[in-house]
Amino acid sequence: MSIPKIELHLHIEGAAPPAFIRGLAQEKGTNLEGVFNKDGSYRFENFNQFLSVYEAACTVLTGPDDFGRLTTAVLEQSIEQGVIYTEAFLSPDFCGGGDVGAWREYMHAMQEAAAKLPQIEMRGIITCIRHFGPDQAKTAAICARETAGEFITGFGMGGDEMQGTQGDFAYSFDMAREAGLRLTTHAGEWGGAESVWQAVRDLKVERIGHGVQAIDDPALVDHLAEHQIVLEVCPGSNVALGVYADWRSHPIERLRERGVPVTVSTDDPPFFHTTLSEEYDLLGHHFGWEEETIRAVNVTAANAAFCDAATRDKLLKALEPAS
Ligand code: ADE
Ligand code: ZN
Repeated sequence: MSIPKIELHLHIEGAAPPAFIRGLAQEKGTNLEGVFNKDGSYRFENFNQFLSVYEAACTVLTGPDDFGRLTTAVLEQSIEQGVIYTEAFLSPDFCGGGDVGAWREYMHAMQEAAAKLPQIEMRGIITCIRHFGPDQAKTAAICARETAGEFITGFGMGGDEMQGTQGDFAYSFDMAREAGLRLTTHAGEWGGAESVWQAVRDLKVERIGHGVQAIDDPALVDHLAEHQIVLEVCPGSNVALGVYADWRSHPIERLRERGVPVTVSTDDPPFFHTTLSEEYDLLGHHFGWEEETIRAVNVTAANAAFCDAATRDKLLKALEPAS
């Protein structure tokens, strides 16, 4: 497909090719027992195992240079998919443990790696991890506040949505907002429509990571449509993790038809054996998405991107059909 793509929801560590992680483990003599299947893919059977394997894989990413190399590998993967702009979730917890000085070095390594690839534009969303708790989230928010700027443009939260409430993290989100950062949080992936309401009401985010379980509450669907709160939908991730049994039962098309602004991303593509092109192919296959819809969804993503006006204009121009 020749339409350029914009991806708003990609975890940098979750996008690590398994071979890249295995290579680092070998270099460092780290035993990653239990992380891989015999065929070399990541090994997990449910969301909690996914989180454990994800964190185990992260143990071989020990310094800024590793994250610089990871950024190159991930962006090269995205370029191959026709992605011209990507927002990556970056976690200070995996980059120096929340220390601001250390984080700065990791961030510079990723920013420098991205600057070497002119085919793609990258922005970072600093992400706290919900199951690490609200106190640890504050250290991520401080890193975000101290490095907010051209590259770090957003703040968000991933991790286990069933731990605590969205509102437990309001202090960190308020700090990030005051630093001028744009906000998103994972909600309505596992925690139901109530979690999406919490995200909107208690964290005042302008985008929602996943948000798909909003479909179960018609008033919430109306609210998202009325306030044009953008969903970062990752259908392949939802199906791989069992949020929905199959593509046919995924609500992305029903949400779109009801006027909710939806975008399409891959979340952690090698974990879920997906690519962004494959996501669009399957949306075409199951829901009849054709070029016009795909272009419109990417225009929605460009308008919702956490970037400056000049970059947005450039993205919107790239999305105009050739005349
Ligand atoms: N971190 C990486 N992928 C995630 C997901 N799908 N949900 C929550 N946290 C994550
Ligand atoms: Zn995610």
